[in-house]
Amino acid sequence: MNLNRQFWLVGGGGHALVCADVLSTSANWSVHGVIDPAQAGSAFLNWRIHDESDIAALLAETVDCVLALGQVKAGMMRKAIYERYVALGAKFPAIRSARATVSAYAGLGDAVMIGHHAVVQPLASLSTGVIVNTGAIVEHGSTVGAFSHISTRAVVNGDCTIGDGVLIGSGAVVLQGKRICDGAIVGAGSVVTRHITEAGVYVGVPARRVD
Ligand SMILES: CC(C)(COP(=O)(O)OP(=O)(O)OC[C@H]1O[C@@H](n2cnc3c(N)ncnc32)[C@H](O)[C@@H]1OP(=O)(O)O)[C@@H](O)C(=O)NCCC(=O)NCCS
Repeated sequence: MNLNRQFWLVGGGGHALVCADVLSTSANWSVHGVIDPAQAGSAFLNWRIHDESDIAALLAETVDCVLALGQVKAGMMRKAIYERYVALGAKFPAIRSARATVSAYAGLGDAVMIGHHAVVQPLASLSTGVIVNTGAIVEHGSTVGAFSHISTRAVVNGDCTIGDGVLIGSGAVVLQGKRICDGAIVGAGSVVTRHITEAGVYVGVPARRVD
């Protein structure tokens, strides 16, 4: 059986570099190429970036893809791109760094990306398209909704419920058991001490709404 899977990186920016490096930690995975209409023709590491004029032809080369666009305020843009590619036959298996620690009792949806030195604990559940970025932690029993991004070194403590399209900024901490609604943005370094029930931008210690 051929275990080697070749992936299109969908997106050719900084987060795509991180995704390429995550793929490089597995002997069974490699980058096939990069697709990004905004940067078509440019170089990306050893590859030249493709545009999207014929996605079906590109997917005929390999159907495996990584949702490699980063997200600060645009989680739902990642969702739209994911759905467009899936409708054309793309597959987005979860990818994880060999240098991450992921519990055998955690649940991972499609298009999940887990970066180097991230930790995902037992009974954590990551929905479709979730990013657990470099060094981030999702503790036991926490649920992270679709296309949310737990940024570098952020911590989601135990039994939290994070909605869809949420950004938890770098180094932020969500205290145990807190709920964060769909579309909320938590700034870098903030500490979420109360449930967040309205979408908006929350910053500081304790996190308060600024927008
Ligand atoms: C929260 C965030 C999205 C706000 O961005 P923004 O909407 O452009 O807001 P602004 O930069 O105009 O900041 C609004 C106010 O909040 C303050 N603020 C912004 N981010 C803050 C933070 N992380 N902690 C504390 N205060 C912050 C600003 O100083 C500003 O205060 P002021 O109105 O008194 O001047 C952004 O600052 C942030 O933290 N992004 C996360 C980046 C990140 O972690 N990326 C992950 C990469 S893997």
